Amino acid sequence: MRSVFSPLAAALAFLLFVGAVSADSPYQFFTWNVTYGTIYPLGVPQMGILINGQFPGPDINSVTNDNLIIDVINSLDEPFLISWNGVQQRRNSYEDGVFGTTCPIPPGQNFTYILQVKDQIGSFFYFPSLAMHKASGGFGGIRIFSRPLIPVPFDDPAGDYTVLIGDWYKANHTALKAVLDGGNMLRSPMGSSSMAVPVALPSTFNKTYRLRISNVGLVNSLNFRIQGHTMVLVEVEGTHTLQTTYSSLDVHVGQSYSVLVTADQPALDYTIVVNSRFTSPVLASTGILRYSNSAGAAPGPLPGGPTVQVDWSLNQARSIRTNLTASGPRPNPQGSYHYGLINTTRTIRLANSAGLVNGKQRYAVNSVSFVAPDTPMKVADYFKINGVFRVGSIQDYPTGGDIYLDTSVMGADYRTFIEIVFENSENIIQSWHLDGYSFFVVGMDGGQWSPASRNGYNLRDAVSGLPELMDSHLHSTG
Ligand SMILES: *[C@@H]1O[C@H](CO)[C@@H](O)[C@H](O)[C@H]1NC(C)=O
Ligand SMILES: *[C@@H]1O[C@H](CO)[C@@H](O)[C@H](O)[C@H]1NC(C)=O
Ligand SMILES: *[C@@H]1O[C@H](CO)[C@@H](O)[C@H](O)[C@H]1NC(C)=O
Ligand SMILES: *[C@@H]1O[C@H](CO)[C@@H](O)[C@H](O)[C@H]1NC(C)=O
Ligand SMILES: *[C@@H]1O[C@H](CO)[C@@H](O)[C@H](O)[C@H]1NC(C)=O
Ligand SMILES: *[C@@H]1O[C@H](CO)[C@@H](O)[C@H](O)[C@H]1NC(C)=O
Repeated sequence: MRSVFSPLAAALAFLLFVGAVSADSPYQFFTWNVTYGTIYPLGVPQMGILINGQFPGPDINSVTNDNLIIDVINSLDEPFLISWNGVQQRRNSYEDGVFGTTCPIPPGQNFTYILQVKDQIGSFFYFPSLAMHKASGGFGGIRIFSRPLIPVPFDDPAGDYTVLIGDWYKANHTALKAVLDGGNMLRSPMGSSSMAVPVALPSTFNKTYRLRISNVGLVNSLNFRIQGHTMVLVEVEGTHTLQTTYSSLDVHVGQSYSVLVTADQPALDYTIVVNSRFTSPVLASTGILRYSNSAGAAPGPLPGGPTVQVDWSLNQARSIRTNLTASGPRPNPQGSYHYGLINTTRTIRLANSAGLVNGKQRYAVNSVSFVAPDTPMKVADYFKINGVFRVGSIQDYPTGGDIYLDTSVMGADYRTFIEIVFENSENIIQSWHLDGYSFFVVGMDGGQWSPASRNGYNLRDAVSGLPELMDSHLHSTG
């Protein structure tokens, strides 16, 4: 008995992938060959993107300040790029691997990423950033462990697992791109699929395990829970949180959470349930938490969770706080940086919208749908090549005008602190990737933002970099 949910009849399924820890060192070298290959996430063969033959790609295990030298060989027949979600590019933002700023790796060529996880700890992931490749694979977990002498606010877990979850489309990335180019949205059902793969997380009685859960999907927020077990949240994207016990967690696209799970129940197989949030129909998938000496499937109903409730999600997100007295990457307390005392000098309001441009489905910010220039912007900036982009080609606030295509670039002053309000008046969840910046999510709510909303900001213990949650009635402020 694995699921109370019927097999998925609609487009999406959810995947649970699991990896385990290996070695670490101050300089690490990787050679990654990116190829197409056959994968079976829904039990039937389909085309996927593999890294060194693996789907999902290999986990990167590192320690604060490690240098990661990653030679990526593109053996696909189209350009490819990898983005290192959450790894701050203090040395060279050209290594970011984001569409439009850096050069794609041409087919048959390689590029060596030089990264340093400087002053970082925690759980992150990497993913391909071009051409919807992410829909076909090419992603994997990144772990940054604390240096040996830095206190970690919980005991060493008996095991450490990367659990990647995401919505999964039966169609490959090329076919999905064609859907958008045909003027349709991805949330429309894409055909039928069967249940996702059950994956076993091995565990031993009375031991505590760390699960690093990341949502690597394209669109949907997911709720994650384990039959008969609670989860103690300990870390969110490099911040040690107040340790709070949850029976289920909403994981939005791009988010990574570390939880501790103690195997303190009778030795059986427990079902991990993942379901989509804010969607109709609700789609679900399962995996397994399997005790080493399991006597079989655990009886009883599977744990229920929220489906369309927005307030539930907002309240949970607000409950996730920084542990101000715990150490971060350095021995000093995380609360020693008083972000709430810093005055901001500018307010930017960004509103997302969707619509057709020349018959193709496009998504816009303040009415501009971004077009990547032929010359990457970092290259144009470095070599002072004119005509590639114009600073100020997007407004600081929503204009309500029709969507148009442009290479939008907004200027900002070095070292300033800016308030950014994200406004979502669409009836679909929207997630933002603020690449390479430190930010604090100080507020989120329904209704229209106004300066009075500042009275409700958390200026004390917000989590740095927790991606925001939004839907039609919400705005969010970072
Ligand atoms: C990458 O993998 C492909 C398929 O296995 C293989 O043909 C190719 O030689 C590999 N490239 C390198 C540089 O190892
Ligand atoms: C990467 O490209 C460089 C220069 O094009 C080449 O010398 C090198 O052998 C390539 N490395 C791999 C692993 O293919
Ligand atoms: C992706 O799917 C399309 C349509 O099903 C197919 O024609 C194409 O060959 C697939 N792409 C790859 C790289 O397998
Ligand atoms: C399980 O752990 C608890 C708390 O550490 C301990 O009291 C108990 O004896 C353990 N039980 C077994 C069977 O090891
Ligand atoms: C916060 O961190 C401190 C220092 O490690 C620890 O003693 C305390 O238990 C943590 N508090 C919570 C609520 O997690
Ligand atoms: C922020 O502005 C307030 C009011 O103008 C001022 O009193 C305070 O010193 C400023 N804080 C900083 C850190 O500049």
